[in-house]
Amino acid sequence: MKTIFSGIQPSGTLTIGNYLGAIQQFVKLQDDEDCYFCIVDEHAITVPQDRLKLRQNIRSLAALYLASGIDPKKSTLFVQSEVPAHTQLGWMLQSLSYMGELERMTQFKDKSEGKEAVSSALFTYPSLMAADILLYNTDLVPVGEDQKQHLELSRDLAQRFNNRFNDIFTIPEVSIPKVGARIMSLQEPTKKMSKSDENEKGFISMLDTPKKIEKKIKSAVTDSEGVVKYDKENKPGVSNLLNIYASCAGESIESIKDKYAEKGYGEFKQGVADAVISVLKPIQDRYNELINSELLDEILDEGAEKASFTANKTLAKAKKAMGLGRVK
Ligand code: AQP
Repeated sequence: MKTIFSGIQPSGTLTIGNYLGAIQQFVKLQDDEDCYFCIVDEHAITVPQDRLKLRQNIRSLAALYLASGIDPKKSTLFVQSEVPAHTQLGWMLQSLSYMGELERMTQFKDKSEGKEAVSSALFTYPSLMAADILLYNTDLVPVGEDQKQHLELSRDLAQRFNNRFNDIFTIPEVSIPKVGARIMSLQEPTKKMSKSDENEKGFISMLDTPKKIEKKIKSAVTDSEGVVKYDKENKPGVSNLLNIYASCAGESIESIKDKYAEKGYGEFKQGVADAVISVLKPIQDRYNELINSELLDEILDEGAEKASFTANKTLAKAKKAMGLGRVK
C-alpha cells in the first residue's frame, strides 16, 4: 500500500479545475492507498486573506472534499494549521532551500507579477509544501500540472536532507491525470483556471448554480471558425471546453468532436454545461447537508489527531538528524 498526500488551498471556492485536476484523482486513490488530504490554510495566507472569509473557505473546502467522495473511513482529512509539525519542518527545510531555486518557481513569478508588496512567505511557500509531503513518508502526490515544479523541489529537498544528515525522507513521486490536468480560464484560455481569479466569469465554481454554470459556459471565449475540434495552439477556448466535457462525461475528446461535427458552438456549449452540471449537482446536494453539521467538525478533529501522530514521529527524527533541541 502506498502513502498518498495532497493539499488544496482554501483561497476561494474550488473550481472545476481543482476538481478535475486534483479531487477526482483523490477519490479513486483512497480505495487502495493510505491517503492524507489536507486543507492547506497556511499556504493560503501567503497572499492577503480576509479572516472571516478564510474561516468560511476552510469549512467549505472540507465539506467539498467529503461531498466529492472523500471517505473519512478510508482517508485522513485535516487542516494544516491544526498540525504544527508542518510549519516546524517547513522552517527546517527553508534552511536547506536556495534563493536561486525558489526564484525559478513559475508560480511565484506569476503570483508576484505586478504586485507592489509580495510576502516572503509567497517566496518560501514551496519549502512548506515539501514539509507537508515529507512528514507522511509520502510515496505519491496527485496534483494538477501546475504543481509539477514544486514537486521537483520537494524531491530535491528530501534528497538534500537525506544526503546531508540522515536517510529519513521517502522521495515522493508525482501523479498528474491524463485528462483534466490543466483546465484553462473560460475568458483567457491560455491562462490556468484559478479560484482566486478576479474575473468571476473565468472560472466555474463547484458551488455555482446550474443557471450560472450555463451562463458562464455560454459566454466562454472561443473563435470565429465555428468548428468543434481539438487544437490547443490555434483554438485554445474550444480545446479547453472539449477537455472539460471529456473529463466530466468520461468520454473521449474524439467521440465528442464527432458528436458535434455538424453542429455549432451554441449546441456544443450546451453539451459542456450539461456535462458539468451532472457532475456538480449531486456534489452540491451533499455539500448542503454537510456544511453546518457537527459531523464535519468530528471528522476534522479526528483527522488532525491521526495526522499529528505520524507527522510528530517524522518531525522528531528530522530534528534529531539536524541536531536541534537537546538529547533527552
Ligand atoms: N486549472 C487547473 N486545472 C487542473 N488542476 C488544477 N489545480 C489547480 N488549478 C487547476 C490543482 O488543484 C489542486 C489544488 O490547488 P491549490 O488550491 O493548492 O493551488 P493552485 O494550484 O494555486 O490552485 P488555484 O485554483 O489556482 O488557487 P489560487 O487561485 O489560490 O492560486 C492542485 O493539485 C492543483 O494542481
